[in-house]
Amino acid sequence: MTARGADAKARDGPALARSGSLLEIDLAAIQANYRRLCQELNGVPAGPTVKADAYGLGAARVVPALAEAGARHFFVATPDEAIALRKALQRTCPEAAIYVLNGLMPGAERDYLAHDIRPVLNQLDEIERWRKLAAKGKRALPANLHIDTGMSRLGLSAAELAVLAERPELLEGLAIDFHMSHLACAEETDNPMNARQLEDFRAARARLPAAAASLANSSGIFLGPDYHFDLARPGAALYGVNPTPAAPNPMGQVIRLRAKILQIRDIDAPQSVGYGATHCAGGPTRLATVGVGYADGYLRSLSNRGSAFIGGERVAVVGRVSMDLITLDVTGVAPEKARPGAWVDLIDPRHGPDSLAAEAGTIGYEILTALGRRYHRVYL
Ligand SMILES: Cc1ncc(COP(=O)(O)O)c(C=O)c1O
Repeated sequence: MTARGADAKARDGPALARSGSLLEIDLAAIQANYRRLCQELNGVPAGPTVKADAYGLGAARVVPALAEAGARHFFVATPDEAIALRKALQRTCPEAAIYVLNGLMPGAERDYLAHDIRPVLNQLDEIERWRKLAAKGKRALPANLHIDTGMSRLGLSAAELAVLAERPELLEGLAIDFHMSHLACAEETDNPMNARQLEDFRAARARLPAAAASLANSSGIFLGPDYHFDLARPGAALYGVNPTPAAPNPMGQVIRLRAKILQIRDIDAPQSVGYGATHCAGGPTRLATVGVGYADGYLRSLSNRGSAFIGGERVAVVGRVSMDLITLDVTGVAPEKARPGAWVDLIDPRHGPDSLAAEAGTIGYEILTALGRRYHRVYL
């Protein structure tokens, strides 16, 4: 642990004791990851994607750190998230542009205006409603225009694009900051879908009034300069997830998660472990029970599949993950290390979010966004 981490641990002693678990979030590592991505972008700015509470890490702390590192464009999913961000940035970075990816939510239009929030316009109806508000206020309203090039999720369809291409007056009164699209397979560098989406994005842009453009998410940044345009929108890579899964992770680790052993159990005769009796300790076995469970985002799919570290030893999750507890087989660990009150590393640089995700059959994104509220959080 760093000296600052040790300080924080001492400072937060009673709260830490009550929680029994510690989630350290390294803001300096997030800032370093931001700079690493900016280096890769070679002069093109990066607008952090900080939806879902900055991928579970706490937007109120993460976003000011990113602004301090130089970020001026931020992407969230909902107007509620955008309002919270505006408040978090009020003092240090009031000029930040905050974009709502999920669009112009009907009934919330006044909140966008009141908090200077920019919608990502995903369909003609949203364009029309934003344009009416611009006309009413007699001022150009800023927004992004999202063109679907292969996600079939949000963004203008081919038919809607054709309407806009024929009737560019539908965009009058709007100040389009960026044409946007989103890559479906960017983490697979060889996937031909990347080049096809790039081509379709270029073709769509050529049919619209000129504006700057944004295409790349974290992995898209590593597809090369063709994908960079005028702004990238990295999320996961900022938080330590590997944007290039086929190669070593170029990003620094951001989180460390530890929890305390509550109880040690020695088993002599064959004995089942946990709900459903899905594991059977055949011979002499030593188990450690740790106070985290699926209610904390330690996914139930890690049952009989997950691993953790006690000191230098890797230990296996045995039996089902329950709501508040897991059991680890610590038979091979020295008793003075595997004892009640000892720390178990659940996520650390040896076993990061991607590695735990692989055991759980999911992706690092889900591990991060599931991180629970009961962990005692310390920001480094
Ligand atoms: C439209 C859009 N842009 C950017 C991102 C950031 O993606 P990533 O976390 O893979 O960098 C997301 C995340 O899902 C997104 O939906």
